[in-house]
Amino acid sequence: MLDNHNRNIDYLRISVTDRCNLRCTYCMPPEGVGWIPHSAILTVAEMIRLSRLFAEMGFRRIRLTGGEPLVRKGVAQIVRGIKGIPGIEKVTLTTNGVLLAEQLPALLDAGLDGVNISLDTLDRAQFAAIARRDELHRALAGIHAALAVPGFNIKLNCVPSGENDAQLVPIAALAKDHNVAVRFIEMMPIGLGGTQHRRTQAEVLAMLEESFGGAIACQQPDGGGPGEYVTFAGFQGKVGFISAMTHKFCHNCNRVRLSATGFLKTCLQYETGADLKALLNAGASDDTLRAAIAQAIAQKPASHHFSEHRETEGETRNMHQIGG
Ligand code: 5AD
Ligand code: SF4
Repeated sequence: MLDNHNRNIDYLRISVTDRCNLRCTYCMPPEGVGWIPHSAILTVAEMIRLSRLFAEMGFRRIRLTGGEPLVRKGVAQIVRGIKGIPGIEKVTLTTNGVLLAEQLPALLDAGLDGVNISLDTLDRAQFAAIARRDELHRALAGIHAALAVPGFNIKLNCVPSGENDAQLVPIAALAKDHNVAVRFIEMMPIGLGGTQHRRTQAEVLAMLEESFGGAIACQQPDGGGPGEYVTFAGFQGKVGFISAMTHKFCHNCNRVRLSATGFLKTCLQYETGADLKALLNAGASDDTLRAAIAQAIAQKPASHHFSEHRETEGETRNMHQIGG
């Protein structure tokens, strides 16, 4: 559906849990967080019902996120339920990869169309420092399991923080040897992300060009996300940049987010949206829910203002509660 800024909003990201099996320094405090109780989280049936309403309103793609979505039981069941909804073209998942190898067969059987896997470093000690868990081997097993599926759509997401500078070229090189998109995501001042150093798109591109030669601009892959893509001579895949800070893409925004607690969040930065879980708890009809969704989307903010009002308007929740 169109919002008040004439953007076609047809992509929903559903956070299926705020829990995670890692503790990335830019996302979660070391002790973890006071997890939301199960009773406050959307049930599988509620997620599928809401997805159907979104599909009826023109949404075509749904991504499951977290926290880490694969720590929730029954994710394959959610994928299967959403894939069966008329109008839904693609169901994808964003994961840290740790549980992916074991769950991939069930997810593929349920109809999963692609995965985005986080990968900030290929160095075991550094992974343990960034994620505060010694799980690089399992994350890599997840990536390799996904790479072994013919035609499966895989993107690798890396957040350059300055700390992992030496890893950016080796990670980008995965797109040389495989037909994948390796994306560099600028650190956003969301929760703990606001306390971290960030490398900009220009800095990362300069490091890559030093190793791989001049970047060659690429067509946007379908789906219309915010990434800008390039490739290098001899690469099978692509390198993308998602640069909310230095290359703001709000004018092309195509998405809204549903939190694990059923809050429809219409912009990463703001608290604006609709509490769909409260409506579900009150026994709302499909018409009431659709009206609440339509009203929230119509009022979607035109853009974030992260750089200008960091102290007063920065999102204070951490990414595990929002779903990336
Ligand atoms: N800024 C940018 N990306 C972030 N992620 C988590 N927190 C931030 C932040 N503050 C990334 C994770 C993962 C994806 C879901 O979001 O690294 O790749
Ligand atoms: Fe977990 Fe992702 Fe947050 Fe890391 S960034 S702690 S993998 S939710």
